[in-house]
Amino acid sequence: MNIVTDIRAWQSIRENCATKKIGFIPTMGYLHAGHASLCERARRENDITVVSIFVNPPQFNQSKDFNLYPRAIEEDIALLTSHRVDYLFLPDEQTMYHDHYEVQVTENALSKELEGAYRPGHFNGVLTIVLKLLNIIQPLHAYFGEKDYQQFMLIKKMVSALFLPLHIIGCETIRAEDGLALSSRNVRLNAMQREKAAHFPKLLHSDLSPAKITEQLQSLGFKVDYIVEQWGRRLGAVWLDEIRLIDNMLLRTIR
Ligand code: PAJ
Repeated sequence: MNIVTDIRAWQSIRENCATKKIGFIPTMGYLHAGHASLCERARRENDITVVSIFVNPPQFNQSKDFNLYPRAIEEDIALLTSHRVDYLFLPDEQTMYHDHYEVQVTENALSKELEGAYRPGHFNGVLTIVLKLLNIIQPLHAYFGEKDYQQFMLIKKMVSALFLPLHIIGCETIRAEDGLALSSRNVRLNAMQREKAAHFPKLLHSDLSPAKITEQLQSLGFKVDYIVEQWGRRLGAVWLDEIRLIDNMLLRTIR
């Protein structure tokens, strides 16, 4: 796997593979089997697979969450190599934000709901970095997990609204054996929290109403931001102490 940190270096590689299909997976690193499944899908559907790792400051609501976001670049490189990813794009903050964060993408409707209501500015940060990355990499296909369903919808909306010449592909959520959606943040759960966390997907998958699910989660000690049904899905966000978990699933798989 080639590691590219410089935009010009990528552009010259990109020019030399102008006729190849490029599949791209943007990430924030601390990679797990969820990310790996996106890489596998990209590898099947493209000639060249590119992954980026960049922990994007403006999409974090608190600098504490940004600072605590897990990082393990050597392990990430090993995982990407084992999945035969061709290029890792690994830019630094100055490269991505030479404008000092002065230019940003804003969506004014969907980005204000659910996650956006609880995390003001989060989706501006996500859309801005994803647009920058798509413009640099110029893939044919870009892969996103349905685990972050609202993020996936917003990226599709941005691509359509701005006429970006590529396809956004959604990939199903990969879960641990007990049903918890894999997430880089899960490593911050201690053993007790990790055990308790499994109640969240279990209850979300149950045939209870959102109000009943909320009640049961609260009685287990979760703080519930929302459990709602929309877009044909049931979506939820909860806190276990300092750690926030999100998940969602298709409603027709429940009823
Ligand atoms: P990150 O959380 O690293 O996730 C990168 C991609 O992997 C996202 O598309 C996410 O939805 C997907 N993913 C995460 N966990 C998954 C799981 N258990 N199953 C399937 N896919 C999963 O999402 C981000 O980074 C950032 O917001 C980013 C898009 C890179 C912009 O900074």
